Amino acid sequence: MGKSAPASIPPTDPDTGGGPAGSTEEGTAPDPDADPRTESADAGSPRAALELSGVTKHFPLRRRNTVALDGVDLTVEQGEFVSLLGPSGCGKSTVLRLLAGLEEPTTGRVRVHDRPPAALVNDHRLGIAFQQHALLPWASIADNVALPFRVAGRPVDRARVTELLRLTGLEEFAEARPRQLSGGMRQRAAIARALALNPEVLLLDEPFGSLDAVTRRRLNFELARIWSEQRITTLLVTHDVEEAVLLANRVVVLTGRPGRVRHVEHIDLPRPRGGRLTREPRFHEVVDRLTALLDGDLASRAGADEGATAQTGRRWLRRRGR
Ligand SMILES: Nc1ncnc2c1ncn2[C@@H]1O[C@H](COP(=O)(O)OP(=O)(O)OP(=O)(O)O)[C@@H](O)[C@H]1O
Ligand SMILES: [Mg+2]
Repeated sequence: MGKSAPASIPPTDPDTGGGPAGSTEEGTAPDPDADPRTESADAGSPRAALELSGVTKHFPLRRRNTVALDGVDLTVEQGEFVSLLGPSGCGKSTVLRLLAGLEEPTTGRVRVHDRPPAALVNDHRLGIAFQQHALLPWASIADNVALPFRVAGRPVDRARVTELLRLTGLEEFAEARPRQLSGGMRQRAAIARALALNPEVLLLDEPFGSLDAVTRRRLNFELARIWSEQRITTLLVTHDVEEAVLLANRVVVLTGRPGRVRHVEHIDLPRPRGGRLTREPRFHEVVDRLTALLDGDLASRAGADEGATAQTGRRWLRRRGR
């Protein structure tokens, strides 16, 4: 995996701002970000970085048992960027928590680089950024980005911290406190922190969830560029279909609870991907197809919920002898 020291990243649309991947004409030059996938969700591939096979996850809750995931097979190849889409409550965060070693599967197997997730976590080679950025409010942005070094008991590599602040456009705010930054800047700091120890795997759970559309789009372009430079195996959970398509080599759609893999979409759109691509019909075709899948799922869930409510109502009326 190429992890050369990244050049400064101007926070611009790669279509107009130029960038390290080269300002090639889309569709005319060889794709510098050739898709690293082999075949889709094949469990057991020798290049698999992340692997869930036959994973079921139950959460006992009082007398009820919530089935969050049911028979999930999912493989992310080394250096691949996969987006995970699905309705709220379908188990997306649970997938990430399993891969981060924060949960155990009820049945099935979870592997990161063919080892239990804890191995990578213990080696500090896993970067995580969740929706709540969880920066330390009393520490400067530079110290927040340096935190993984301290957690790992390693001397802080100041050059690396400076490089990450430049990469995420925060070099002028190294000494600021999180409260002095905008929401988007805090999210960028959280991503810089996740990258601090050169992780081999990046798990992102709606990292841009609370941002306005314009900031979110800018951060999407920045993340696309960071990934192009460093090729870190990345699994991104998002509710935003455009974001999922813009960033990923593959988009995996889960069904509503319990979560199962419903659809895998290979995204063969050329890179670098920027604002111009998002205005093209071929981009919207993919986005519309995936949105329709999600809409269908929501509609069938709403139908099921309505049916269940009607049934409960009928049972109640029968009990009351009406
Ligand atoms: N620790 C837990 N204890 C009990 N139930 C849980 C726990 N964590 C998750 N669940 C349940 O598992 C299901 C999946 O939760 P999860 O957080 O993975 O969903 P999600 O797809 O990330 O949803 P969202 O898009 O809203 O973030 C939900 O029904 C949730 O209530
Ligand atoms: Mg979630």
